[in-house]
Amino acid sequence: MAHFPELVFSGVQPTGNLHLGNYLGAIVKFVELQKTHSCIYCVVDLHAITLPQKPDELKASIREVTAAFIAAGIDPKKHIVFNQSQVAEHAELAWVFNCVARMGWLNRMTQFKEKAGKDRENASVGLYAYPTLMAADIHVYRATHVPVGEDQKQHLELARDIAQKFNNDFAESIAARGHGEAYFPLPEPLIQGPATRVMSLRDGSKKMSKSDPSDYSRLNLSDDADTIAQKVRKAKTDPEPLPSEVAGLAKRPEAENLVGIFAALNQQTKQDVLGTFGGGNFSAFKSALVDLAVAKLGPVGSEMKRLSKDDAYIDSVLADGAARARVLAAQTMRDVKDILGFVR
Ligand code: TRP
Repeated sequence: MAHFPELVFSGVQPTGNLHLGNYLGAIVKFVELQKTHSCIYCVVDLHAITLPQKPDELKASIREVTAAFIAAGIDPKKHIVFNQSQVAEHAELAWVFNCVARMGWLNRMTQFKEKAGKDRENASVGLYAYPTLMAADIHVYRATHVPVGEDQKQHLELARDIAQKFNNDFAESIAARGHGEAYFPLPEPLIQGPATRVMSLRDGSKKMSKSDPSDYSRLNLSDDADTIAQKVRKAKTDPEPLPSEVAGLAKRPEAENLVGIFAALNQQTKQDVLGTFGGGNFSAFKSALVDLAVAKLGPVGSEMKRLSKDDAYIDSVLADGAARARVLAAQTMRDVKDILGFVR
């Protein structure tokens, strides 16, 4: 396999409030990867419109995700932060991939089945083609590493299949144009393990979600200290004291979730947390969790709030990121057009 320089790409959809699950599951990892890699972080607004969106809310969400990236510590000068629709090459390459990917591949995508629900005839064509656009996001930069949640693993495998089929189908043309044996790298998923899977504060068996009707089920990044404290105090628990060993968390989903959140926020293992709190009751543990959550999330929330008053700054970050992304994406599209045999 040809060698490609390491490059990280990931995307976050601008749909609804960001919560602790997005933060621990994705954003913290993005911040971490900046230390070792060149990174491109994209607010995927083209993906958002695969489902209906209200224009004013969409715009606010694009800015909110951008603000969250910056507030959490992503450096938009050293790396690239932008919204997808400003770089037309994503949609352009997605069309090419619509002609590479097979219907049979897309028919197997579980996320489409879930999101389309029973009324599949009425789903948008975009929702069906979602994974080919995601593949284009990655491949238009020839990215090599993609941090994603467990739920996106299947889409990433599809992105690898598309790269492989493109490399195979056009092998001769790719080689003839001096690109060696493969034009697109096969991107590696960097999957967040179950340790960073954050569950609902009201029901430890459900994922923390922006669409849960109860706001008490999640900690939003925009929550202030009082709200965080209230939600943690009301979080569901069980009557037993905390166990001293991780094994004791089995079949206690709410306890496991709160211990997991504490561990992730404090960059410890669950066993470390139980070393401190095992044998104690939930009220002492919850007090400590309130302090920790306020200490870690409070500054992110207040920086997001400050940035929310400065749309001009946020928009300038996105425009600058898009301009730098476009240079890279345009080179790929020129190569792809030559490989396909388009006149340009
Ligand atoms: N589908 C991803 C999600 O919902 C978002 C996304 C779009 C993405 N394009 C991407 C993630 C490319 C990684 C790489 O989480």
